[in-house]
Amino acid sequence: MSAKLPAVCLSGADYSAVELSDDDASVILLDQRLLPLEELYVELRGPAEMVRAIREMWVRGAPAIGIAAAYGVVLAARMAESSAEFDTMVEAIGEARPTAVNLRWAVERMKRVAKAAHGLGRHERVALLAAEARQLHRQDVAANRTMGALGAQYLPDGASVLTHCNAGALATGGYGTALGVIRAAVEAGKRLRVFADETRPWLQGARLTAWELARDGFDVTVISDNCAASLFGQGRLGLAIVGADRIALNGDVANKVGTYGVACLARLHDRPFYVAAPLSTLDRSTPSGDAITIEQREPAEVLEFAGRRMAPVGVAAINPSFDVTPARLVSGLFTEAGVALPVTPESVGRLLGSLD
Ligand code: MRU
Repeated sequence: MSAKLPAVCLSGADYSAVELSDDDASVILLDQRLLPLEELYVELRGPAEMVRAIREMWVRGAPAIGIAAAYGVVLAARMAESSAEFDTMVEAIGEARPTAVNLRWAVERMKRVAKAAHGLGRHERVALLAAEARQLHRQDVAANRTMGALGAQYLPDGASVLTHCNAGALATGGYGTALGVIRAAVEAGKRLRVFADETRPWLQGARLTAWELARDGFDVTVISDNCAASLFGQGRLGLAIVGADRIALNGDVANKVGTYGVACLARLHDRPFYVAAPLSTLDRSTPSGDAITIEQREPAEVLEFAGRRMAPVGVAAINPSFDVTPARLVSGLFTEAGVALPVTPESVGRLLGSLD
């Protein structure tokens, strides 16, 4: 059964990856497993459903996962019969996926509010947590618009832009990070052609980036992941821009598997490779990319295609969901607090300093 979005979406659009219902009793998710064939909103009423939805990628993309987690904490506060039960529910949400640091970041932020609300009645506690989660959602959209405007200056008029995975409205509270930069450049009057690589095995590029850009009237062309090298070689790609799941203090970037390959190709062909991400994706507790836990997903995602076996039965597969691009391959990092260009421990430190 399809759920209804709230009358006003915090995403700022008529579609949204994640919203809290007007009565704070449920979370409405766009089931991204079904896109682009079906636009179905589902309603989650408890934290266990949220853990499942994050793990199974009904909602995905680092900032969107963080916002969904924050709303999941609101559901936990509604349901938990004791503070111990609340803590257990919240821990489970925080551990649903390991690589996107926005998930932990959002849960820690919500835990601080829950602690401050200790001693209040359930109704007041839920109201405070819902207000905080909505605020986190609004701030994410605002951050995307700011980094979009900053990053757009680096996208020349007439450029052909490669993007990997989906770092758009569907992966965030709204507007997008990498796609936010593209949106801002087009809103400023630039003509861009976007190439969305398909992003095997989950096809975030072919299914999600193409869906949201086509829906919003952008010039978007899907390519197979294997096609990027020859397009760079033929001079048909001017630059690449992606999002991030976690950025270490030295500027190493964890993002969807395949990002490292795109960065290598851009460097080999002397083209810029940019990353756009909110400060919530910068992780003070991770010194370098080696320390980032990379999620390993089911081999079936690689061995099968659309539910049909493609590889011989009995053959093994590995399926790391992310890879790490070394900072030296990143031409510039766009955040809501400014731009790091080049990306070094010092320039990343300056961005983080804006939070202190
Ligand atoms: O596995 P996913 O789809 O959650 O991975 C998403 C990505 O890698 C995105 O590029 C990243 O989260 C940035 S989203 C603004």
